[in-house]
Formats: sequence, structure tokens, C-alpha cells
Amino acid sequence: MSIVLIVFPLVIIIAFAIFRWRRRRFYELAGKIPRVEGTFFGELSYRFLGVKTENITKLLYEVMGADTPITSAYFLTEFMVLANTPEMFKTILSSPHCLKKPTIIYDGFFAKNGILANNGSMQEKHRKILSNSFTPALLNQHNSLFNEKVKKFVRKVGEKAGKGEFDIYNHVAACSLEILMKGNFFDNEDCYDSNVIHSFNNTTILMAARMMRPWMSIDFLAKLTSLSKTIKIGLQPVENKIKEILKINEHLKVESDQKQGVFISQLLNKKYDLSDEEIRDEIFLLIFGGYETTALTLSVCLLMLAMHKEAQQKVIEEIENSNFDENFDITNEETQNFPYIESVLKETMRLFPVAPLFFRETTAEIELDGYTIPTGAMVALPIYFVHRRESIWGSDASKFIPERFESEKVKNLHSHAFVPFSGGKRMCLGYKYAMYQMKITIVNFFKKFEVETSLKYDEIEMQMVPTLHIVNGYKMKVNERKS
Ligand code: HEM
Repeated sequence: MSIVLIVFPLVIIIAFAIFRWRRRRFYELAGKIPRVEGTFFGELSYRFLGVKTENITKLLYEVMGADTPITSAYFLTEFMVLANTPEMFKTILSSPHCLKKPTIIYDGFFAKNGILANNGSMQEKHRKILSNSFTPALLNQHNSLFNEKVKKFVRKVGEKAGKGEFDIYNHVAACSLEILMKGNFFDNEDCYDSNVIHSFNNTTILMAARMMRPWMSIDFLAKLTSLSKTIKIGLQPVENKIKEILKINEHLKVESDQKQGVFISQLLNKKYDLSDEEIRDEIFLLIFGGYETTALTLSVCLLMLAMHKEAQQKVIEEIENSNFDENFDITNEETQNFPYIESVLKETMRLFPVAPLFFRETTAEIELDGYTIPTGAMVALPIYFVHRRESIWGSDASKFIPERFESEKVKNLHSHAFVPFSGGKRMCLGYKYAMYQMKITIVNFFKKFEVETSLKYDEIEMQMVPTLHIVNGYKMKVNERKS
């Protein structure tokens, strides 16, 4: 017994010493990078572990909000570098050695084989397949659906016009989800399911909680937790929808030479030989990434215009001065005739980027801000904070001023000062799709309505993980415009 008590700790100490020695270069390089303030010997995890989701945003502000060039910290076994400038964003997003997504974070989306989380050859293959769903011809094919569903959304909102404040999010989300579902997964009318929206509404906050518990990336440990069970139950409507999608599209499981096609026809094409797990995870992530992103951005955009009457007036004037007639569709090309609306959307995504923080992992050493970042380090890109940095955007950085995107100063900013859709080889595949859909929505909406809200800009509270939500809700009063 006493021998065991001596040998066991000795084995652990020796194993640890070998582990450290093998990784001596890693620790040597990591040791040279300045630490985030407020860590305990460089360790940060104790501040985040198990933290309540409502406190994550406050903590992120403390850890990432400072205008420091580069900092680092340990998060349990992970070494994390905080890249805090547009220059570093550019280096990371264009490096072939920073394409990997760290498992500890991205497994939290519950679809590790899907494109948002997968890596290496699987990611390259999936990206190639899914790119076939975003060709200009297909985007034009989606155009009449964008217009049809947006007009339905305007009619639905019209039923609430003049009747006091309400939260517009679920209406916007329904529109985005119908567009995504009908255009990409179903070819019929009965594709919309409000349970899917409620399911995602209820579980994104749990996804955040899951990310704060890194041991949950170990499958068998995760399965033992009540959080895991709650998430499983919460996501059941989404799982049911995926099964329905697969059943209805059974006929697409053939080998086809089709060069382009909507998501489901690509995913089921036998030519690509995707496994059942890959197909399930990809559908899951495409639903989540394809509707929630545009729904949140559009909702906060409407809220910003409700709070900023001058900007709203300029939007309305731009629509009135155009040839837009609500009895006809706006083509994707015609959305370019609304530059002020584009600035409004950009300003919304600057202040409220739906993905406020994203991560990469280095697969080789890279140079960043004069430091060598070791292989296997996690790199955080806190775009929310860089988008609001006064040293980049000026002393009014935290204010909503769409005109800044028309100014020479902003046009001359660093190419990576504004990256709401990320960049490089893992940039958002749906950015054009999203921009067309959002512009078509704003034009149709403000042709008919004007909005006001009792919520004040300074009172806005945000929840930032994993996607950015306004905690106060998207409450506004919609009034029919007198033309
Ligand atoms: C306002 C709307 C949107 C925003 C702001 C946005 C933003 C982003 C960001 C920041 C990423 C990279 C995330 C990371 O690196 O962790 C991403 C990835 C992605 N997005 Fe979007 N997105 C939007 C809409 C859409 C839509 C509508 C679709 C599909 C219909 C879509 C499909 C994708 C895909 C497939 C990826 C993964 C790309 C890869 O890893 O290779 N997105 N998006």
C-alpha cells in the first residue's frame, strides 16, 4: 500500500515533467507573450468556469475590452492569445496555419461534423460542396422567395400596426427561417415551424453555458450532466425537423452531376459520399447559422432605426427617391441602389456583430505583433471590441452613426477593422445571401411603416455568447406611414 502511495505520485510527476519537456518550445514561446490583466499566474479559467451566462458578457468586457495590442492567458489546458487589432485579424484570417477551429469552443454547437466546427480535409470538402449553393445564379433564383416571404412578413407586422409596442424578433425570425427552409430544404409551403425558433431561442443560452464547461467536450462526461440532458430535450424539435427534411428529400439520394444546387440537393448527392452524421450536423448548422444570424441582425437594425429617428428618416427618403414599387420584386442587383441602407446595416453589424467573438487554433508557429505564437495555441478574435475601439473609430465609436461608412476616414481604415462576416478561407459563405435578404426586408418594411421604441440606447444590455442578443428584447411600436 505504502509503495503505491509513493510510486503513483512519482509516475504522475514524471509524466508531467516529460509532457512539459516535450512541449518546452511551446511554453518558452507562450511565456514571452504578455498576460491578460487579472489572471492568477496566467490562468484565467477559474474566472470563467461555471460562470452564469448572464455574467459572461461582463467578464468578457473585463478580459477583452482593454485597448492592449496582444495578451494571452491559460484556460485550463488551453493557451489562448488575444489578438486585439485589425492588423492581427488580417494575419490570422489569411494564414493557412490558422484555419482550425478549437474543439473546446466549437463542439458547443452540437454539430462537430458541420462546417462551422469541422476542420482539415472534411472542412475543405464541405466548403467546396456548400459553395455550390451560393453561386450568383442560385442567389438570383432565391430572389423571388426573398421578396415573397418579406412581403408576407410585412403583412403580418401590419396586423400589429398602431397597437402598441411588441417584440418584433419572432416575426423577423419566422421570415428568415421560412426563406431558409423553403429555399434550401423543402419545396413546399409547410416548411415553417415555430418550434424550431423556440428550440434555438431556448438552447443558445445553454450552448454558452456548455462552452464555459470545457470538460463537456469529453463525450462520456458530458452525457452524465443534467445540462446535456436539458440541451438534448431542448433541441428535440430541431432533430425532428431534420428527420422530416431527410424523409421528404429521400429522392435526392442519388448520384448526380449537378454543378450547383440548394443545400439539401448538394448534401444528399451520393457523389460526395457524406456520412449520416455529416449530413445531420450540416443541416443543423445551416439552419442555425442561416436564419438566426440574419434574424438577430435585422431585429437590432430595426431597433436602432426606432431609436435614431434621423437615420430612419434618411432610410425612408432613400426608398421614396428610388423606383421601388412594393407591387413588384426588388432584384438582388437593385439592392445596390440603396447605399444608405447598406451603411445602416454595416453600422448595425459594427456595433452588434452577431458573432462577437470567434476563435482559431494555430497548426504551425506564426508571427503576431512581434511575437512567435506556438503551434497549438488558441487565438481569440474579439471583433465586438475592435469594432467599438475609439483608437480606430474615433471618440464617437460607441454611437450609432451610419454616415461614418460614407466618410473618407472609414473608407481608409484598415481592411480588417470591420469583419462581421470573418475573412479568408473560412469567411461566411452566406454573406451575399444575407445582405440581399436584409436589404430587401428593410426596403419593404420602411416603404410601409415607421417605428418607435421606449427603449433607450444607453439602456441596452447584451448577451454575447455564442451569438449576440439584446437582453431587453426588440420591442417597438410599428405605425403605418402616411404617404
Ligand atoms: C448577418 C448575417 C450573417 C453574419 C453576420 C454571419 C457571420 C459569419 C461569421 C462571423 C462566420 C465565421 C464564424 C467563425 O469563424 O467562427 C460565418 C461562417 C459561416 N456562415 Fe455566416 N453569417 C451570416 C449569415 C449567414 C447565412 C444566411 C448563411 C447561409 C445561408 C451563412 C453561412 C455560413 C457558413 C456556411 C459559414 C461557415 C464557413 C466555413 O467555416 O467555411 N451565414 N458566418
